[in-house]
Amino acid sequence: MRGPVSELPLVFEAVCYAVGGTQILRSLDLTIAPGAPSAIIGPNGSGKTTLLRMAMGLLAPTSGRVTWGGQTDPAPRRRAILFQRPVMLRRTAAGNIAYALRQAGCPSARVAGRVEELLAQAGLSGLASRPARRLSGGEQQRLALARALARDPELLLLDEPTANLDPAATRAVEDIVRIAAQSGVKILMASHDLGQVRRLAGDVRFMSAGAMHESAPAAEFFQSAKSPEAQAFLRGDIVT
Ligand SMILES: Nc1ncnc2c1ncn2[C@@H]1O[C@H](COP(=O)(O)OP(=O)(O)OP(=O)(O)O)[C@@H](O)[C@H]1O
Ligand SMILES: [Mg+2]
Repeated sequence: MRGPVSELPLVFEAVCYAVGGTQILRSLDLTIAPGAPSAIIGPNGSGKTTLLRMAMGLLAPTSGRVTWGGQTDPAPRRRAILFQRPVMLRRTAAGNIAYALRQAGCPSARVAGRVEELLAQAGLSGLASRPARRLSGGEQQRLALARALARDPELLLLDEPTANLDPAATRAVEDIVRIAAQSGVKILMASHDLGQVRRLAGDVRFMSAGAMHESAPAAEFFQSAKSPEAQAFLRGDIVT
């Protein structure tokens, strides 16, 4: 029996992840509950992408455990992940969303209507019939977000969703994320853009070298980070 399906809370308990003797995640504890977006920040190589892939169920811990709504079954029910570089299907923008809707079990009669709504939400209505791979980087990222939202996620994992985007494209992506969050989607995002974290996140988790050093409401974190590692990172010092 699967019981009531909820992805939340997402809980990591003493999670370690090692590849070939290299420790990538070190006894990591994390609880992600419904609410405003949560941001994961930390230097390059600190383990953010690895953590997100594990939160999606794509990687299993070497030791410790991950649970979604109290269950250990990693099969995604209502969660989606957006990688830094989205891979578009060789179809139109609308076709990419329709495909995701069908995969998510959307009834055929509703697909066309939902495609329109999702394209509109992503500001892409005018580009519905454009081959997705010919869209600009910013447009592709918005389309990738619309495609992730087509799965009606309760938990949406975003890995540096605006890396490589200019300020206008970044803002367009942030608007979609904000609206999704307001409509109840829990966002867990890794970002190097501290301005973006201030704009979007309700709480911040700081990691370095595979360990979680700090977890705090965003305002508190930026005003008075407690760990020496986070303080150094916020000052712009090189942290490994
Ligand atoms: N399959 C793997 N085999 C070996 N090392 C790996 C593997 N996956 C990740 N790593 C290493 O684990 C560390 C964490 O990688 P990860 O991609 O999670 O970091 P990150 O915080 O997302 O970095 P960035 O900010 O650069 O995106 C890195 O040193 C990386 O090289
Ligand atoms: Mg990464």
